[in-house]
Amino acid sequence: MMPFRVEDEESPKQGGKRSDRFPELVLLRSAAVSADGALMALITWSEHMSVGVERIDKQHRQLIDLLNCLHAEMLAGRGLQALSEVLGDLILYTKTHFSTEETLFRNHGYPQAQAHKQEHDELTEKAVALQREVSSGRAALTLPTMNFLKDWLSNHILKTDMGYKSFFAAKGIK
Ligand SMILES: [Fe+2]
Ligand SMILES: [Fe+2]
Repeated sequence: MMPFRVEDEESPKQGGKRSDRFPELVLLRSAAVSADGALMALITWSEHMSVGVERIDKQHRQLIDLLNCLHAEMLAGRGLQALSEVLGDLILYTKTHFSTEETLFRNHGYPQAQAHKQEHDELTEKAVALQREVSSGRAALTLPTMNFLKDWLSNHILKTDMGYKSFFAAKGIK
């Protein structure tokens, strides 16, 4: 079962009618807007996310920006086409980023490269499946979907990517 909400009028458990989702959208909007009315980011970069390699940190920040952009577009009530385009950009940039990491692994003989690449492939597949669902109108970008994407990105950075931090530090890669 996909970890995101699927539009299905027949099955309230998997999404329900548009009106059933309304309280959740109100909750999401209020949670994402600060006291002065500014839009709050879904993920905020902080130093604990640094893997110690400048170009990788830069790409991670870019991915976070794209995800925050998708979140903001969703809160602004943008249509399917606009959301699907941002999601497409996020996937495209994710592929570029994964390829940068995998090239570094190859060039420096990172011992966990194979398992790490496998996780990249699985993450890409999940995001592409989500984009397919969103652009076909079968999935909506709601709170669970955004949380899925937030975990999708931050868990990989904080758990898997962190695994190479000391390896590259020992190699003098910055
Ligand atoms: Fe990464
Ligand atoms: Fe990675």
